[in-house]
Amino acid sequence: MSCAECGNAAVKEAREIVADVGSEPEKVIPLLQEIQKRHGYLSQELVEAVAEEIKIPASRLYGVATFYSQFRFAPIGKHLIRVCKGTACHVAGAEKVYSIISEDLKVDEGGTTADGLFTLESVACLGCCSLAPVVMIDDNIYGKLSPAKMGKILKEYADGK
Ligand code: FES
Repeated sequence: MSCAECGNAAVKEAREIVADVGSEPEKVIPLLQEIQKRHGYLSQELVEAVAEEIKIPASRLYGVATFYSQFRFAPIGKHLIRVCKGTACHVAGAEKVYSIISEDLKVDEGGTTADGLFTLESVACLGCCSLAPVVMIDDNIYGKLSPAKMGKILKEYADGK
C-alpha cells in the first residue's frame, strides 16, 4: 500500500468514525476511544485525519489523550497481559507474578515484546478480588496465581494458544 493510499484509508475511516460518534466538542474522548477500539492504540494517521474532519488541531486531540491513562500511543502486542496490583492482589503476591512475567518476557511496564506477541500492563483492580492474585490476558481471567502457574500459562500463549 502506498502512502497516498494509507492516507486515503485514514480519511475514509475518520469520516466513518465522526459520522458514528459525532463532532461536537464533548465528543473528543468518545472519538479517541473509537480510534483505540478499532486499532488498539491511537494511530497518528487516524488521529490527524479525525482532527481534520472535525476541524480542530490534532495537538488538541493529543493534549486530551495524554491526560488519560486509558489511551495508548503505540500498537499493542498480539496478547495484552494485565496484572492486577490492587490491594487484594498485592497482598496475595501480585508483585512476584508480575516479576515472573516481566523477566520471562523481558518486557517492562507498558512495553511490548520484541516479537510483538505480548504487551504488559499493571492495573488497579480487575473486579474479582476473591481470586487474588489475578491476571487478565486478552479477555481471559486467571486467578489464584503463583509464579509457577503464571509461567505455565505464558508458555501456552507463546506456543500459540
Ligand atoms: S485487587 Fe486484584 S482483582 Fe481486585
